[in-house]
Amino acid sequence: MSPTVPAVHLTARDGAVDMPLLGLGTWQARGEEAYRMVRTALELGYRHLDTATMYGNEAEIGRALTDSGLAREDVFVTTKCPPERVGREDETLERSLSDLALDHVDLWLVHWPPRGDNAGVRMWERVVAAQEAGRARAIGVSNYSPDLIDELVGATGVSPAVDQVPWSPSDHDAALVDALRERGVVLEGYSPFKRTDMDDPVLAKVAAAHDATPQQVVLRWHVQHGYVVIPKSVHADRLEANLAAADLDLTDEEMAAVDALGS
Ligand SMILES: NC(=O)c1ccc[n+]([C@@H]2O[C@H](COP(=O)([O-])OP(=O)(O)OC[C@H]3O[C@@H](n4cnc5c(N)ncnc54)[C@H](OP(=O)(O)O)[C@@H]3O)[C@@H](O)[C@H]2O)c1
Repeated sequence: MSPTVPAVHLTARDGAVDMPLLGLGTWQARGEEAYRMVRTALELGYRHLDTATMYGNEAEIGRALTDSGLAREDVFVTTKCPPERVGREDETLERSLSDLALDHVDLWLVHWPPRGDNAGVRMWERVVAAQEAGRARAIGVSNYSPDLIDELVGATGVSPAVDQVPWSPSDHDAALVDALRERGVVLEGYSPFKRTDMDDPVLAKVAAAHDATPQQVVLRWHVQHGYVVIPKSVHADRLEANLAAADLDLTDEEMAAVDALGS
């Protein structure tokens, strides 16, 4: 049986949309490798895929999703608009949808803050329009500070539902967690394995107590905190182990010990 992955509710145009807290990252997987990775992940029980225009793999992901035979509403799909597409947002999303073979994504993110005079607000206005047009159920940003989020809200009155940021135990920053929570923005982390020493003795000790791996401890730490996490792997055994991490249960002391890697 597939592990049970809890979800977080995101504000969406049509009410709320459930975003599974553990999904599949797809950066640096391309071509047939990306196709096979997504097919395997969906067979194992993943129901959340994270891609981006910049990853160059939307067509393979779309094909894998179609071939999986899963119902559209059972899989949460995110893609992202590159910052240099200011003024070309609509065509960028249409191309993503065409490649993904979808008529809407569940989450469309601004990949990085665009540079230039008011460019961030102009892009955000088009992202809001895409949501109003039903092409993205929820909308958000990536690599934004709370101040930049405030700028968007001040200009448009519409808050991002999500901020996707680099995140792992060694990045743990209670001030950022609080700032996003106060704003009602869900924290989605990326690169969970690349930014913390996976040989850290604290992770090793917690992992041993659960007959788990340090990678699984890191993933469960995200899920147990309510942070969204999107590990990427092209290997079936790692995909399976990463998903199974959702079923672990860390004690309060273990959670605090992993939190402390960020201080
Ligand atoms: N918004 C942004 O700017 C941004 C930036 C970076 C990433 N992201 C998103 O976040 C996702 C995750 O981040 P990421 O891909 O940078 O890094 P990651 O998921 O932290 O790490 C991926 C690396 O870890 C390996 N790996 C995966 N599972 C493992 C396991 N159980 N044991 C040992 N090694 C394992 C993978 O190798 P194999 O594939 O060979 O197994 C790959 O080399 C991306 O794929 C992308 O979707 C977003």
